[in-house]
Amino acid sequence: MIESPVEMPASLIDITIDGRSVAVSEGATILEACATIDVEVPTLCYLETLTPFNSCRVCVVEVEGSRNLVPACSREITPGMEISTESARVQGIRKTVYELLASTVDMSLVDEPTKQAMARYNVDPDRWGTWARQHRDVKIEDDLYIRDYDKCIMCYRCVAACGPDAQNTFAIDVAGRGLSSTIATEFDIALPDSACVYCGNCVGVCPTGALMFTSEFRMREAGTWNETEQHVTTTICSFCGIGCNLELHVQDNRIVKVTSPLDHSVTSGHLCIKGRFGYSYVQSEDA
Ligand code: SF4
Ligand code: SF4
Ligand code: FES
Repeated sequence: MIESPVEMPASLIDITIDGRSVAVSEGATILEACATIDVEVPTLCYLETLTPFNSCRVCVVEVEGSRNLVPACSREITPGMEISTESARVQGIRKTVYELLASTVDMSLVDEPTKQAMARYNVDPDRWGTWARQHRDVKIEDDLYIRDYDKCIMCYRCVAACGPDAQNTFAIDVAGRGLSSTIATEFDIALPDSACVYCGNCVGVCPTGALMFTSEFRMREAGTWNETEQHVTTTICSFCGIGCNLELHVQDNRIVKVTSPLDHSVTSGHLCIKGRFGYSYVQSEDA
């Protein structure tokens, strides 16, 4: 008889969040503990399918007895922890972090939760001026996806998705120093000449529009990109038997980009080149 593995239940730890007592499983992060009682903490570099990288610091919270604010996305809870998620100090730091990011990066296309958080903390994107922004050409090297690193917040999500957290291709990494540091292929060669296998998993996790389907980029340039007119159809990829879920974003009866749900047990949001970009046959005019 084959026995099913039975996991030991995690023991519970008592902590306090914003004055409320709560018992949370050992090993949970502060972010996960907050989610159990619907306390919202903003995040930016964090994504639940990737290993926390701690680069942005918008998730910081105050912990009694800790001199520094701590990142909620990666810090594990400990017994008796007293956490303040919205103290004046926390709010001030979050506002400043967003404003410093906006001084170096074009944040016009950040994801919706970030837009809402920036509004919540009354962020002034021009507070520090924009003199530190880089002005790099958008890299358009193929018909699949573009790279616009003037929108890159160096969150490292794409590097993790290309590397150990999903694809294991290691085609991209951080290069350079200080304000001129950027995400790059090996020796900054063009994408088609690099190790990239065009899975698009980096595009799928990018929160700022720095990586974008070429179709979306061209439609935005032409002023025809209209998310309010798009609908999303979830289907199963037809290229092989694995069963990846695809979300087809459709506008004017044409597929304009493809994503996969983060909570899908097969993909965790990640796809291969066929599922991500192999849809042109669906709308071929030669068919
Ligand atoms: S498309 Fe895939 S292989 Fe290429 S850089 Fe992005 S994650 Fe890496
Ligand atoms: S390209 Fe996107 S995912 Fe990659 S580091 Fe920059 S903002 Fe993050
Ligand atoms: S979301 Fe926690 S450090 Fe970026």
